[in-house]
Amino acid sequence: MLSFPQNFLWGAATAAHQVEGQNFNNEWWDWEQTPGRIKHGHSARVACDWWGGRWQDDFDLAQSLGHNAHRMSVEWSRLEPKQGEWDEDAAQTYRAKLKGLRERGMTPLVTLVHFTHPRWFMEQGGWLNKASLAWMERYTTRVVEAFGDLCNFWITLNEPNVYMVLSYVWNARPPGAGSLPQGLRVARNMLFAHYRAYEAIHRVQKDAQVSLAHQWRTLAPANPRSSLDRFATWQGNYVANEMFVRALTTGKMPFPLGRGETIGDGKMPLDYFAFNYYFVSHVTFDVSRPGSVFARLLPPTWLKGTSFEELTDVGDLAPNALYELLKRFARWNLPIYITENGTFDIGNDNQLPSIDNQSSYLVTHLRAIQRARQEGVQVNGYFWWTLVDNFEWDAGYWLKFGLYHLDVESQTRTKRPVADTYANIIRGNGITDALLAKYA
Ligand code: BGC
Repeated sequence: MLSFPQNFLWGAATAAHQVEGQNFNNEWWDWEQTPGRIKHGHSARVACDWWGGRWQDDFDLAQSLGHNAHRMSVEWSRLEPKQGEWDEDAAQTYRAKLKGLRERGMTPLVTLVHFTHPRWFMEQGGWLNKASLAWMERYTTRVVEAFGDLCNFWITLNEPNVYMVLSYVWNARPPGAGSLPQGLRVARNMLFAHYRAYEAIHRVQKDAQVSLAHQWRTLAPANPRSSLDRFATWQGNYVANEMFVRALTTGKMPFPLGRGETIGDGKMPLDYFAFNYYFVSHVTFDVSRPGSVFARLLPPTWLKGTSFEELTDVGDLAPNALYELLKRFARWNLPIYITENGTFDIGNDNQLPSIDNQSSYLVTHLRAIQRARQEGVQVNGYFWWTLVDNFEWDAGYWLKFGLYHLDVESQTRTKRPVADTYANIIRGNGITDALLAKYA
């Protein structure tokens, strides 16, 4: 048995636009209206219908699996639909959700911005506009004043690095700028905004625990013997990972985001580390991609021979890379929470036999976390991405990460084997030898 401590947080992670439906007032809704942008023409019109009230059913499901925590996000475009105007009805709905979690024995972890922004925010340039720092500070203050009696565990921004790359350096997501300089400006302003939000939360709530969720994209050279591949990997890793973590841990803005200037008071604006981790991606040098620091991600090897081969951005499975990272992060001496980790079902609905690849992913990654814990790394919680299949951004409903399968039309939820595997681990607060024998 590989055991975890008694007070370990076990849960799943969700994000407003991906589960709520009826989110018509942000840039994603606008983006979805252009044909060809979302796989199979899917849209987030209904999603998991949380705005229609089905969050209650889904929180019941999470409770039935023994979850004692849940990561969710609140939607800025609902709470502040017009600049400076707070929507009390929307706030009441989120209060009901937070109470709903508490009543079910789940600690809420709330993300303030998870990839979506009010239309008015984007119309004024979004994070390119320096005024965004003040908008974020005001919004954050309102959120903590409104929900602070129900939650003290916060994430300001989800994955500024992923947002920078997919929405600004590339054209994959709104606003689709395709500009590295703009991407860097957005990242810089988001890091400043994080600091402002961090301070604002602590002003309102003395016992708050605040972080920013960073998805660490582990990159490896496609050909380790090629110095060009190693160079592209080094650059990619610096821009996608290192410069963000450096800014957060040193309190200084590193090159090329800045020139070492102090962010706020120069202290580390983190009470804990929030890490999202999925896959390792292999990188090759590509001279035609100066705008992506000459790095090109290779298609994953583990999906060879499946219909998922066209999918180029999911990388390879490497729980060991997670262990190595955790060992590295231990040096900052902060509690660590894995705020997203998971994979999609490569069988269900895709004309492939279901092979329960999610359970092996779960068990091997938790084993890596437990090993790091045994060696003294303070990992205090784990959130599987995600509870019920949701709107996976540009992949629509095609990628199914849920513990539960969702039929969007009928809104029927069906439990996947991984849900029971996870419930078994949570119940025993550890990974049994039987699970290890079966999945690891
Ligand atoms: C995001 C989620 C997303 C997940 C799986 C992360 O980048 O935070 O919103 O759905 O990856 O693709």
